[in-house]
Amino acid sequence: MTAGGIPRRSFLAASAASGLAGLAPFAPALAASGEDWGGAFAAALRRNPVLLGWKTPPDRLDTGSLAVTGAWPAGLKGRFFRNGPSIHDRFGRRYRHWFDGDGMIQEFAIDGGRIAHRGRTVRTPKLAREDAAGKRLYSGYATHLESTAPVRGPDGLNAANISVLHHGGELLALWEGGSATRLEESTLAASGFKSWSPQLGGVPFSAHPKVDPDGTLWNIGCALLPRPALVLYHIDRTGKLVKAGLVDAGPMGLVHDFVVTQKSLVILIQPFLFDPGRAERVSVLDAHVWKPQAETRVLVVDKADFGKRRWHALPACFGFHYGNGWEEADGTIRLDHCLAGDPGILTETLRYVMKGEFRPSAPLRYAQIVLPPKGDGRIESRAEEAEFAKVAPAVVGRRHRYVYTLGAPENPQGWHFRTVVKRDLERGTAERFDYGPGKIPEEHIFVPRPGGRGEDDGWLIGTVLDWKKGVSGLSLFDAQAVAAGPIAQAWLPYPLPLGFHGAFVGG
Ligand SMILES: [Fe+2]
Repeated sequence: MTAGGIPRRSFLAASAASGLAGLAPFAPALAASGEDWGGAFAAALRRNPVLLGWKTPPDRLDTGSLAVTGAWPAGLKGRFFRNGPSIHDRFGRRYRHWFDGDGMIQEFAIDGGRIAHRGRTVRTPKLAREDAAGKRLYSGYATHLESTAPVRGPDGLNAANISVLHHGGELLALWEGGSATRLEESTLAASGFKSWSPQLGGVPFSAHPKVDPDGTLWNIGCALLPRPALVLYHIDRTGKLVKAGLVDAGPMGLVHDFVVTQKSLVILIQPFLFDPGRAERVSVLDAHVWKPQAETRVLVVDKADFGKRRWHALPACFGFHYGNGWEEADGTIRLDHCLAGDPGILTETLRYVMKGEFRPSAPLRYAQIVLPPKGDGRIESRAEEAEFAKVAPAVVGRRHRYVYTLGAPENPQGWHFRTVVKRDLERGTAERFDYGPGKIPEEHIFVPRPGGRGEDDGWLIGTVLDWKKGVSGLSLFDAQAVAAGPIAQAWLPYPLPLGFHGAFVGG
């Protein structure tokens, strides 16, 4: 039996031992220290309210009508969803990395100036089993328990905590180590794992699928054991699997995101490399080793034929997210990347924030990567701090002029973001809005204006934590006047945990 021409056995191998599946047998050897991270965090939060963004919220949040300011456009109707690690404390124990928190879906239902909010923890099988046991049972990506319950596959540890996707008529909470999780749109309740074919059940499906302007969806999955492999997905606009592929990728590094061009999938394997030997002694995160002298390997796969592939080399680089990519007439590929000098943000900053400690690390900065049709690529670095790069849906895979990111002023207080930046790649300029001290913006995404013309004819929408006031809000910018600040905002009576990624669903 095949899945898009790939032997079922291969998919099951990728599925059964994709990175996180290996945690359970490894964990007993890892006696976590008895340090009370929950107590340390609570004490630090009393001293430093900026930590509010990493506090566990109630399981359910509801506000029927948000307090709005400014001019919400009558033509803006739809739902803005977000996801991120939220449930950081379970049964008196706190996760020891931001990425380990269980997911919570935030929904802002927008009808002109009327805005309602719901927040719902994603009730994964993992949470259900722990609730039934009355205790934490499982380790996470970077958090170990002294002993764990056995898991059969990656989805036994699925935290559904990275992003949200609405495609083919389904709403899905995305993780990356295993399946997407279906959500009931009426209640936001989890309703089982999604697989695009019987052969793909439990196979890793990344949290950064790319959707072409015609609705075609492309995605990757990254498996670590028993051998490193990349899974490739081609899904039509109705949600039907067209084809899938499996690539034996050699030594595997952190692969969280990728880009598409009109012709290709472009996947960077950065030299923060997974060492299977270390995985028997340390967490999945800590089994990765930064090798700055090694190259970044770049895989370019033909969308029309997953068997057509080529490899490029780039200097070592580390980052989580790309913006967009395109291919020029001569075959040169260009793509946005948010790059740091090393993985310290992942291994230090985002770990120790969970016990209330700020450990600054190398900032992520906007860069453009250039891959000639043959030979090695190059990184064209630009200095400004940047992360969560987004573009208009209409230019995915096409040459884009504008890319939207978060950033920080040159001397920010702390390491978190403070600005929203619109970068004009044609002019080489950028405009920015600074939320100022006391506020932390999260990913802002572009929403096209219905009937709009031009790449930037629309809005930027995103959430912001006002940690001084202890509340979270929703901001709307005119994408053609970002520096002018939000044209409208809406405020909740409570804070939301800082999360990762969102999606706007119109109508
Ligand atoms: Fe991400």
